[in-house]
Amino acid sequence: MLDSKEINRLSEEFADKHPKEIIALALDTTQELAISFSGAEDVVLIDLALKLNKDIQVFTLDTGRLHPETYLFIDKVSRHYALAIDVMSPDAAKLEAYVKAKGLYDFYNTDHHECCGIRKIEPLKRKLVDLDGWITGQRKDQSPSTRNKVAVVELDSTFSSADKKLLKFNPLANWSSAQVWEYIRMFDVPYNSLHDRGYISIGCEPCTKAVNPGQHEREGRWWWEEQTAKECGLHQGNLIAKD
Ligand code: ADX
Ligand code: SF4
Repeated sequence: MLDSKEINRLSEEFADKHPKEIIALALDTTQELAISFSGAEDVVLIDLALKLNKDIQVFTLDTGRLHPETYLFIDKVSRHYALAIDVMSPDAAKLEAYVKAKGLYDFYNTDHHECCGIRKIEPLKRKLVDLDGWITGQRKDQSPSTRNKVAVVELDSTFSSADKKLLKFNPLANWSSAQVWEYIRMFDVPYNSLHDRGYISIGCEPCTKAVNPGQHEREGRWWWEEQTAKECGLHQGNLIAKD
């Protein structure tokens, strides 16, 4: 495992490199690596990674609340690339107890953290236990308030522990949305049909809406909450100020 100095050096060295080179770096520096696929435009990570390694692992967090279009898209991606996507589900007992106590739409009355904790974070933690590196589709331009410092490679400050360090790769960090869409069109990459209906950033159905032209993509996520709180916990480290 790389030490922090080496990680910082690589993050500077690879900051301006093509996402494919950053994925190659991820493959070279980890033993157990997986792409975290949300069912949105981060599909480009899968397309790029498969050009380097046919055996790359891919997982998705099925919160139980995704749009039907997203489920269909995940299935389409799996068939298109002949790829087994590891679909992670929430712990049934924890979910049942939570819904029994709080109902199906508690997040509108409080905030999204408890629901995201059960539906996304707990299954993510279970997946990360087996990995020493994960690849996400985070980009700086997705959220000026929380993602403007996302590095192409970092030590995962949220999910590393004293005995186990985890590397987090964000190969698209410095790509713009326009570059992602240029890639999707150029290489005929399949995409989620919600994007044709005004959705830019796509999460769970009750917590995502289409945005109007001129609105920032993040305004369509958890729109009843403050801008600064808009991380669900997957990328909690973004909320800790970095120099
Ligand atoms: S979120 O934290 O606000 O939901 P966002 O939708 O911007 O994240 O996606 C950023 C990256 O987080 C995705 O490219 C993906 O790597 C990961 N991610 C988000 N949601 C999921 C999901 N349901 N399953 C797997 N990975 C996800
Ligand atoms: Fe629950 Fe909404 Fe979080 Fe999905 S995004 S896990 S529905 S609070």
